[in-house]
Amino acid sequence: MALKVGFVGTGGIASRHLQNTAKRDDAEMVGYADVVLERAQAAADEYGGNAYDNFVDLYDNEEPDAIVICTPPFAHGDIESEAAQRGIHFFVEKPVAISMEMANGVQEAVEAAGIATQVGYMFRFSEALIKVRELLSDRPIAMVQAHYYMPGLPSPAWWPYMAKGGGQLVEQATHMLDLGRFLAGDVATVAGQTARVRNWTDVPDGYQPEGLLEYSEDFEIPDVTGLVMQYECGALGTLSCSLVPQATWDVGFKVVADGLLVTIEGPDASWVGDEEGEMKAGENWAEYVLYELYDQVIAGSTQTSVPYIEGVKSLAISLAGYESVNQGGAPVNTADLLS
Ligand SMILES: NC(=O)c1ccc[n+]([C@@H]2O[C@H](COP(=O)([O-])OP(=O)(O)OC[C@H]3O[C@@H](n4cnc5c(N)ncnc54)[C@H](O)[C@@H]3O)[C@@H](O)[C@H]2O)c1
Repeated sequence: MALKVGFVGTGGIASRHLQNTAKRDDAEMVGYADVVLERAQAAADEYGGNAYDNFVDLYDNEEPDAIVICTPPFAHGDIESEAAQRGIHFFVEKPVAISMEMANGVQEAVEAAGIATQVGYMFRFSEALIKVRELLSDRPIAMVQAHYYMPGLPSPAWWPYMAKGGGQLVEQATHMLDLGRFLAGDVATVAGQTARVRNWTDVPDGYQPEGLLEYSEDFEIPDVTGLVMQYECGALGTLSCSLVPQATWDVGFKVVADGLLVTIEGPDASWVGDEEGEMKAGENWAEYVLYELYDQVIAGSTQTSVPYIEGVKSLAISLAGYESVNQGGAPVNTADLLS
């Protein structure tokens, strides 16, 4: 019998997961919930199943085996906890929450329910990055230097608000913080500094409100951020991120280890030293983050590569970074944020 899948939040990124789910013969797309009912209805019209304006009706009426949650950072918590209490397995897009209170609460519900969960950190499924992790596994790591440069502000209306999107550290650079954990293990302390260097409310000449934005009526998040991290393995890490408009996306790492210098560009990697090589991410790597959850649930297993707790730990680094900023740049222990 096909796995019954429901979707909560059917905006931008959901379209990727809808398309990927539709490719699977062993998944039946039974329903969609979005606070903007027309978006849920559009998905139902395209893929079959029923539309709802709230997740409880979706759970009550469709009794899905699994759900795919693609809501903004502020709209998490009850969606996941209620799913867990009903034994519904879930995939959730990163970041898993906007606060540790929200994330720790869901983690408790997930543990009590024993369900399968997966967080949308798809970089962990790149074949190149899996190889880099293997190369680093038996070498002392010295530095993990990450950057996340976006050429503008993403268009969802919630993005420029701290209380809704969480700022760039929580909302986007979390990909790099999670990948740093994947490659070098957990982060013990985080010290941060942020700034706002650009006037976002000044309408630029020829402004077109599409794609990434150069203008926002309100803009209350930092547009540049720097972190210094102490990894538990002893390595030091840095993260630089910016959303100031410039020519291109530039997302990646340098990792310095004993005998090896690794360069990561997006999902691809190259390395020089006592070993040399380069690798691409491989085919369909971004789909596997979702497919693995489906495969495991169908196989009767709750084991996944990026369970909910991984999202909680990666969120703690972002929030420790902002907490450090509030404390004038003093290092903050991530362990203090985890329940
Ligand atoms: N993994 C990736 O590379 C990647 C890429 C893009 C976005 N994302 C993540 O996906 C999430 C959503 O981003 P997006 O760009 O799709 O945003 P979006 O604003 O385009 O879509 C979010 C949808 O959720 C709906 N929604 C809000 N509150 C809801 C609630 N309580 N119940 C049901 N629906 C609700 C909104 O109406 C909207 O349709 C963000 O956390 C973002 O970081 C991940």
